[in-house]
Amino acid sequence: MSGLPARVRLVEVGPRDGLQNEPCALPAATRVTLVEKLAAAGIDYIEAGSFVSPRWVPQMAESLEVLQQLRRSPGVTYAALTPNLRGLESALEAGADEVAVFTAASETFVQRNINCSIDESFARFVPLLERARSAGVPVRGYVSTVVACPYEGPIAATQVADVAVRLRDLGCREISLGDTIGVGTPATTRKMLEAVAQRVPMQQLAVHFHDTYGQALANIYACMQAGVTVIDSAIAGLGGCPYADGASGNVATEDVLYMLDGLGIATGIRLDAAIDAGQYIANQLGRPGRSRAAQAILHARQRARDAAK
Ligand code: HMG
Ligand code: MG
Repeated sequence: MSGLPARVRLVEVGPRDGLQNEPCALPAATRVTLVEKLAAAGIDYIEAGSFVSPRWVPQMAESLEVLQQLRRSPGVTYAALTPNLRGLESALEAGADEVAVFTAASETFVQRNINCSIDESFARFVPLLERARSAGVPVRGYVSTVVACPYEGPIAATQVADVAVRLRDLGCREISLGDTIGVGTPATTRKMLEAVAQRVPMQQLAVHFHDTYGQALANIYACMQAGVTVIDSAIAGLGGCPYADGASGNVATEDVLYMLDGLGIATGIRLDAAIDAGQYIANQLGRPGRSRAAQAILHARQRARDAAK
């Protein structure tokens, strides 16, 4: 279809962004199984854990064990979130292939999320990126609150672009633009993306949507039309952010795959196997997954089984 990419790369954030926001911490073994199932579905970039303070986010406490215990599939990047040099050292010990730093376009959000100012967050990132470079580990950068902040309200696209440029100049390989509270619409997100892409090449940008207002798929479509080819998503629509009240899960990987398959956009990922991974984690959490496509396909599978009886 004209104006859309032929291929898109999915960044699976469910084992990190998703599970960090669950009411209780899952055992490392369950998190390992989830990551292995995601890789088996053909997902080649998985954010498997987070090396933040366990007092702040207890759900991510055993990320070292998760990364060390998982059976690695060739060609898969296993990444981790790292807020500071200490987090990076843990990620290196765990054998993370890539790490991600995170800041935001809103001062108040950064303060609530990582207890410092935007400038101070960059001061933490400088030694982190130097050490990552010497260890040969690439760094991804997140900008949160790219459309609006739960504390400050609407955020100007120029503020987002300023932070994205700083991350790029620091050496981040790719910058993920996060609508943390999921309030964006196709018009606001595309405008924001295009403003950032004037200052950071589109090939270095990714989009990261939470689906609070049900706009995530429409936003992804609009952003693909604007040229983006990297999309963050979470299996079963897991997720949220512990420091953004009311932020619901990430867009569900299965829903994104169903849309991309329908558009003839290649991902290398098998939807059926992704649905199995989503069903596994939903069962472990004791609640239904949030992917509409997965629910429909699981229902159809059940009908087919009943008909075959
Ligand atoms: P702090 O309190 O300002 O700093 O926290 P500190 O240096 O005083 O450390 C506090 C405690 O954490 C100390 O331990 C440190 O040793 C420990 P205590 O004395 O209390 O026992 N500590 C660490 N422990 C393990 N690993 C570390 C580490 N660093 C310090 N790396 C800090 C600063 C950044 C640590 C804290 O604010 C924090 O961990 N915040 C986590 C916030 C978080 O994980 N948020 C969710 C992820 S961001 C997100 O979801 C958005 C995203 O998805 C995009 C989007 O949707 O927009 C990426
Ligand atoms: Mg997020």
